Amino acid sequence: MAPLQVVRPHAQAEPLLRARGVTLEYRSGDHAVRATQDVDFDVFGGDRFVLLGPSGCGKSSLLKAVGGFLQPAAGTVSLNGHVVTRPGPDRIAVFQEFDQLPPWKTVLQNVMFPLLASKSAGRAEARERARHWIARVGLERFEHAYPHTLSGGMKQRVAIARALAMQPAVLLMDEPFAALDALTRRTMQEELIRLWAEAPFTLLFVTHSIEEALVVGNRILLLSPHPGRVRAELNSHQFGLHSAGGAEFQQAVERTHDLLFGVPPESHVETAERIAL
Ligand SMILES: Nc1ncnc2c1ncn2[C@@H]1O[C@H](COP(=O)(O)OP(=O)(O)O)[C@@H](O)[C@H]1O
Ligand SMILES: [Mg+2]
Repeated sequence: MAPLQVVRPHAQAEPLLRARGVTLEYRSGDHAVRATQDVDFDVFGGDRFVLLGPSGCGKSSLLKAVGGFLQPAAGTVSLNGHVVTRPGPDRIAVFQEFDQLPPWKTVLQNVMFPLLASKSAGRAEARERARHWIARVGLERFEHAYPHTLSGGMKQRVAIARALAMQPAVLLMDEPFAALDALTRRTMQEELIRLWAEAPFTLLFVTHSIEEALVVGNRILLLSPHPGRVRAELNSHQFGLHSAGGAEFQQAVERTHDLLFGVPPESHVETAERIAL
């Protein structure tokens, strides 16, 4: 069996999240920068779907479009059949930056805040849910700590707890572990997968690391350099942290690299499939 298969979207179910022909642009005056062009993808419930591509290919822009912060110049993003036009508590993001947590709030207050602000829960319930998720990420001893007293990895755990406490339809993660040292990054990947395995959620995860994409994702969308277009979609459910370093994993890394940076195929899906089979 080929170690890496190019898959077509599931035929059997309706996707939770659907991007169709998504072209994203930033305009200033009469000047426009095109970030992505004509991007299609489908994310199904329980997927760990990864957007992978080089820096500047529009991954963060796609996440912003899913988040409802950036309206497509062409195409649509829809969630549960409804076109996304604005942000909502059904899409919560975790970013790379450690300063995403207000420093004047404790861990507990940080995790409770979106539940209260979005009126998703009353004070007692918000407190209970926040404490549950703080424990799930292993920070029960730090409920009353302030962010500046925590390590980078711990801050990212708080951000993950805060996001998952909202029970979003899709958890959005934009290079959440990119600023961490290599060992902590591995631990965080492991913890994210453990959290998913304990109670699956739907994840849309952005990275420019091929290894991270293969470890974290069950499906990977490969984007070309700027402006990002879909190069191929890969099935990577067979890889996990245990496979990193193995021969099959190394082959998959190399093939993914070739698919990302090889000569642009005329028709990405067909050509990618030829390469894979
Ligand atoms: N706020 C912005 N204004 C103008 N151009 C932007 C803005 N944000 C991103 N871009 C441009 O859009 C392209 C894609 O950026 P981005 O989505 O951040 O890529 P990635 O996350 O893959 O590194 C880049 O060329 C970038 O310079
Ligand atoms: Mg980015």
